[in-house]
Amino acid sequence: LRTIEWDAERKQVKMIDQRLLPGRLSYIYCQSGEQVSHAIKTMAIRGAPALGVAGAFGVALAMLELSQKRPVDWYEKLLSSCKSLEESRPTAVNLAWGVNRVLSLINPQHSDLEGAARIALEEASRIAEEDVATNMQLAINGSALIDDGDTIIHHCNTGALAGVDWGTAFGAIRFAHEQGKRVHVLVDETRPRLQGARLTAWECEQYGIPYEIITDNAAGYYLRNGRVQKVFFGADRVTANGDVVNKVGTYMLSLAAQANKIPVVCVFPITSVDLSVDNGDEVEIEERPMDEVLSLEMNGVKIAPANAKARNPAFDVTPFQLITAWVTDKGIIRSQFSQIIKRYVYNKPSDGK
Ligand code: MRU
Repeated sequence: LRTIEWDAERKQVKMIDQRLLPGRLSYIYCQSGEQVSHAIKTMAIRGAPALGVAGAFGVALAMLELSQKRPVDWYEKLLSSCKSLEESRPTAVNLAWGVNRVLSLINPQHSDLEGAARIALEEASRIAEEDVATNMQLAINGSALIDDGDTIIHHCNTGALAGVDWGTAFGAIRFAHEQGKRVHVLVDETRPRLQGARLTAWECEQYGIPYEIITDNAAGYYLRNGRVQKVFFGADRVTANGDVVNKVGTYMLSLAAQANKIPVVCVFPITSVDLSVDNGDEVEIEERPMDEVLSLEMNGVKIAPANAKARNPAFDVTPFQLITAWVTDKGIIRSQFSQIIKRYVYNKPSDGK
């Protein structure tokens, strides 16, 4: 089961439509960069690593289209497709990373547009393969922090659906489960789009991982009463000082965990690190439509008055002081984040202490 992949027969990008889960597992197919941008904006595909791969395939599709139509200003058109892909969701840095990695291989002076499209598609497919390998390594590294018998609160969806496979924090839980460790997951719902209740719970079912869903606001109760040993989540962007920009609610969860001396573990690939930004307060937080908050119904009745307004930031910032361990594919960092992460990003060996 792959969240996103190239369908060679159709010459289209195939992705699981995450809006329909857990009710139905079905796929959508994209044949242009524009369709990929739309799929990202409307959350058919989401989760930081998956967005990186979607961005990469989006550029490849845009290049493919241009190689068929051959407009004179093809490179300007390609740049404009890249811009709209990047802007479709601004917070997860993986999206811009995926787009730019493919774009950087396209030479504006190129006259062989079919060749350029081939190069773009090969690179996007390579990024998708690398995502699986990186996430597997994350799963191995993160599972080392999980003990037999742990109950873990998990936020949002960070599983296979958030990458091509495995994902980030949930991948570590899945790997620990596969190693035979007894883990129990308290899956928080993750209002307003309920990625926890809809997607993480669905993944728990797929892999046979014991779980219960809790409301987001029950987390403090469980953290205080001694029934939880760890909190696990991913990241949409990690800044140079170790601040974590992640799904809204991560900050409150981390505060409650720290107050109760429960370890807070953040699991992310190096591609989610943005060293160009000093701290989380400098990151653009995506504000999503208010109807995501207001459109729910209970017993057939809307949960808010017809004229109610809402605010809907999709992410928040958890300051580095609240993080116990940053798990990356290169190793685990427990302190001195800013020094060690530079060595990881620039590929220099380090003892990770
Ligand atoms: O709005 P989403 O569903 O794209 O948000 C996803 C998250 O916040 C995840 O927790 C995050 O991408 C980190 S791990 C994949």
